[in-house]
Amino acid sequence: MRLQSFITVALIAGIFCITGCSKNDAMMLISATKATPTSNTTTITVDPYAAIKLTFGTAIDPANLENYANQDKPAYILKNNLGNNPITDKNATLGRVLFYDKNLSINNTISCSSCHKQNFAFGDTAVVSAGVEGGLTIRHSMRLINTRFANEAKFFWNERAANLNIQTTMPIVDHLEMGFSGQNGRGDFATLTSKLSTINYYKELFKFTFGDTVVTENRIQTSLASFINSIQSFDSKYDIGRAQVNNDNQAFPNFTVQENQGKTLFLTPPVFNAAGLRTTGGLGCNACHNAPEFDIDPNTLNNGIIGIANSANGIDITNTRAATLRDITNANGAINTPMMHTGVLRSIRAVINHYNTINLNPRNTNLDPRLRPGGNGQNLNVTDAEIAAIVAFMQTLGGTNVYVNKKWSSPFLN
Ligand code: HEC
Ligand code: HEC
Repeated sequence: MRLQSFITVALIAGIFCITGCSKNDAMMLISATKATPTSNTTTITVDPYAAIKLTFGTAIDPANLENYANQDKPAYILKNNLGNNPITDKNATLGRVLFYDKNLSINNTISCSSCHKQNFAFGDTAVVSAGVEGGLTIRHSMRLINTRFANEAKFFWNERAANLNIQTTMPIVDHLEMGFSGQNGRGDFATLTSKLSTINYYKELFKFTFGDTVVTENRIQTSLASFINSIQSFDSKYDIGRAQVNNDNQAFPNFTVQENQGKTLFLTPPVFNAAGLRTTGGLGCNACHNAPEFDIDPNTLNNGIIGIANSANGIDITNTRAATLRDITNANGAINTPMMHTGVLRSIRAVINHYNTINLNPRNTNLDPRLRPGGNGQNLNVTDAEIAAIVAFMQTLGGTNVYVNKKWSSPFLN
């Protein structure tokens, strides 16, 4: 056999070598076939991860993946929204690449991470976010923390995505966000799958993850969802305290008096008189933002925020979901992002002021009954000391690791 044939045999063997086939296997195949040549011994190695190494350097090591599948969670965290979509280290790694890849937008300018920034709890500091070619989102971007640990399975502020898998490709085909909309001469999702199929690191990553190089919508969804589901934050001051008691109602030994007071206000339902004025009890936040996950109660209706971002008189009463209230602030107590679907509220104090007086609006036919006791808009009648206490408590919900852990950061070298 001539050298050329040896190479061909080795390459074919490399191509048909399915998952689990390591770099060493490919090298062995080559050295086995090239043992007989009489002259010109050239060493050829076929590295199945050459493009991964070129693009990501040491950020992704296929032989030693980051741990996404078996992360520790506290014993008191019981809610689980994974469904039948288990996280694996392989598909979360592929999901990480997709999440940070600008190739997912029509003109290679926008990635998921453009609007979901790790150092701001995977939210955006802008009120509305910039998409492709001057497009702007119509709602404020959402933080992506502990999405897995929740009862509500639907996603987006208005819950229009039935589950996370379906959600993940909606920004890609959104005309304003990533642009594969099929409108105005732009390509559609099939254009994206063909585009990704030609990129060498995706050939390697899809094969590594799924056994062959085929790029499908389903595979993209599973991988992005795994990556997002892996983003977890359980190292807050709240968690340190919660681990030392049996339930949320006990005073946390690591909290100040004020933080414990704020916790009680958060957890305890208010007691109202016939006019809707709070006479005793707490502020009732826990009814809708349920500790210890602080995820949204699936039965929650609208909370009285009925505007449209950057619009003086628009109305949108459809929003009934919030991301977890964990990591509203970082561990230093600084607000990560503007709050609510309109991004109008920029401090916890402003949030409390909103809930303090809910004004009934005849156009809001979707206001949650918990906020209109006896048919009146609630008046919590909060004192300054109560506001200070609940602010202090909300600031205990910010973690540290999720902002800096490399496994959730961009893997791209440049
Ligand atoms: C141009 C900015 C932008 C880009 C790019 C973007 N998002 Fe978003 N994301 C948003 C906004 C705005 C919302 C809230 C939209 C709404 O509710 O109508 C959102 C909501 C979400 C949610 C819902 C969270 C929840 O708790 O309900 C998820 C999950 C998400 N995005 C994931 C992604 C993924 C995955 C990508 C990339 C494929 C991506 N986003 C790209 C702006 C963006
Ligand atoms: C009746 C249910 C309900 C109650 C009670 C409630 N909330 Fe909310 N909360 C919501 C809903 C729904 C949203 C999302 C609203 C939107 O943006 O349209 C929300 C949003 C928020 C946000 C913004 C989250 C983000 O990611 O921007 C914060 C902070 C918040 N609530 C804190 C509180 C606090 C503190 C209390 C108690 C004083 C409270 N909530 C009481 C339903 C409720």
